[in-house]
Parts: sequence; C-alpha cells; structure tokens
Amino acid sequence: MDTRIIKPTEENLRICAEAVRGGGIVAFPTETVYGLGASAFDEKAVKKIYRAKGRPSDNPLIVHISSLDQVKELAASVPFKAHVFMKKFMPGAVTMVLKKKPCVPDTVTGGLDTVAIRMPSHPVANKFIAECGVPIAAPSANRSSRPSPTTAKHVLHDLRGRIEYILDGGQCDIGLESTVVDFTTARPRILRSGGVGAEEIEKAIGKLDAVISGGKALCPGMKYKHYSPRAEVLFSAYYANMSDTINDYYDRYAASGRNPVILCLSGRKELYGGRNVIDVGESVDDYAKNLFLSLRLADAKKYDLIIAEGVTSDGLGAGIINRLVKASAEHII
Ligand code: TXA
Ligand code: MG
Repeated sequence: MDTRIIKPTEENLRICAEAVRGGGIVAFPTETVYGLGASAFDEKAVKKIYRAKGRPSDNPLIVHISSLDQVKELAASVPFKAHVFMKKFMPGAVTMVLKKKPCVPDTVTGGLDTVAIRMPSHPVANKFIAECGVPIAAPSANRSSRPSPTTAKHVLHDLRGRIEYILDGGQCDIGLESTVVDFTTARPRILRSGGVGAEEIEKAIGKLDAVISGGKALCPGMKYKHYSPRAEVLFSAYYANMSDTINDYYDRYAASGRNPVILCLSGRKELYGGRNVIDVGESVDDYAKNLFLSLRLADAKKYDLIIAEGVTSDGLGAGIINRLVKASAEHII
C-alpha cells in the first residue's frame, strides 16, 4: 500500500472521511499528537488500527468527537463534575473516562465497561471528525512503543505502507497526549497526565483523587513499553545542580565509546560546555511540544544515549516527567 501525506483541503477531507466510512483508517493531526482514526462503530476497521500499530488488543482506544452532543451517544451517564469539566476543557487536550453505552464495541474499549471520550480543538481534526459523521476511535499514530508522532513525517516514518492517507496539519502545538481523567470513581482522578495540568483541572472541579504511582497501571496502556526511541534514555530528576550530574554521566559514557546527547532548555545550554545538546526550546511548554520530536531527532542523528533534563511537576511538567520516566524505563539519575 502506498502511504500519502496530503494537505487538509476540503476535497482531501472528504476523501479521507469517505475512506473512514468505507472501513478504512486515516492519520490526522490534533493539537496534542497525530491520531490514527477509524469509525468507532466499525469493529473490523478498529482491528486494522491495532494491526497497523502492532498494539496489544487489551489497550483501549479514545473515541474522538466533533460536538459535545455526541457524548450522550457514547456514555451511559455523565456525572455532574464531568459536565463541568466538559464545558470548561472541551474541545481541548483532555479525555474523560465515563461508563459506556452498549453501542460502543468491546474492540474499542478493550472489554472495559467504560469509554474514553475526547473532543480535539485542532480545526483539521474537528472538520475531519465532523465530515466522517461518526465518532472516531483513535490512538496516537505511532508504531506501538515508539514516541508519539507530532508531525506528518513522523507518522510516515512509523506507518509507511500500513495506511493510505496522512492528513498534514504541521507540527502539533502541545506535543504531549491529552490528560485522561476518570469520572467513574467517587472522586475524579487523573489516569494519565498530559496536555492540561492537574492544577487547572482542580481549580475547575475541585480536589482530584491522589493517584499512587508504582501500583497497577491505571490507564491500561501505561503498563506497556512506551515512548522509546532506539537510543537509551537517562532522565535526570530536577534540582539546582542537575547539570553537574548530567555532565558526569555524559563524560563517563562518552569515555566508554558511547555517543551521548543532552536534551535541555535553551537558556541552560552553556551549563553543558561543548557537549552535544538538543535544544528543546525556551519554556516547559516548548519542552512538551518538542519532546517526542527531540527523541526522534536523536535517533536520526545516530546518538545512542539521550540524557534528558528534569523539570518541576507543575503545568505540563507532570506530563513531561511521566513520558521521560517511561522512555528511560525508569533509569533516573
Ligand atoms: O491526545 C491524545 O490523547 C491522543 C490523540 C490522538 O487524541 N491519543 C492518544 O491515544 O494518546 P493512545 O491510544 O495513544 O492513548 C490512550 C490512553 C491509553 O493509555 C489507554 O489505555 C487509555 O488512554 N484509555 C483508553 N480508554 C480507556 C478507558 N476506557 N479507561 C481507562 N483508560 C483508557
Ligand atoms: Mg499512544
């Protein structure tokens, strides 16, 4: 199969929507990362997504909508706090988990009795989903275990020959996947940190349940190997002198014949002397936006060890930490 990157013109959106209605799968941009979509009500098409990604079938997919009215097509009930949440953050970089209606197939939910629902704010995503006329089941459009794609080229790199169309919306603005919030427990809780910070969510709907890390994976998907470039990743905790530790590690690995690179904020580059760095931007939001791209860039430049700077856990920091802890298989320095 030939894989084509196409511009999101009216005509191309129609072609892609038709492909989806005919049981096909299409990659599309969102403000978080690129998604790989199929009709959520077409189990055969949904199975194609799992095959194309090489994804374990017990890892459920998020169902994407283009209008808040579609929530009641999918969810058996919407608790009050979910209502408030939805009005405040949707469309946007959040996903809510609710009890599902029987019409949502088990193939989409991995056999769970809940469904994850998200309404992207990216205009191309929104138009594409609306044009399809059905809710769209979509995971991130990477091969399973790889960093999520934030450009059409990254999708092509992972899925060439496995899908027909990639709608090109340029680089994703946020760069981290959506924050997944579970509304099926007595008090809502975050299952995956992401594009909207926990503080902002708590401001809108009150205290969230604390999530104890290290226990059973909450999002079924989080138990799998994730976000991994080919290079090995070391992740530094955030503290005042972290650059000293990073430099120590860098020099020791370089002396043993490795080819390391440091992921750091622009303003901190000089702390690393003449060592190889990838500049992730000026702010923590830039770091989020460029994180997956930088992991892929390190591979393309044939570095075999990535040492990533830590950040504080506020705002998008929690999402960055979560992704890097996973990418490093918890190798924290
Ligand atoms: O920003 C995003 O969320 C992107 C874009 C494409 O929308 N999508 C995305 O999908 O990141 P994916 O499949 O890569 O990650 C979805 C996560 C997985 O960890 C999955 O286990 C979890 O959401 N999930 C899906 N349905 C769930 C459910 N019913 N209950 C709990 N977790 C669920
Ligand atoms: Mg993913």
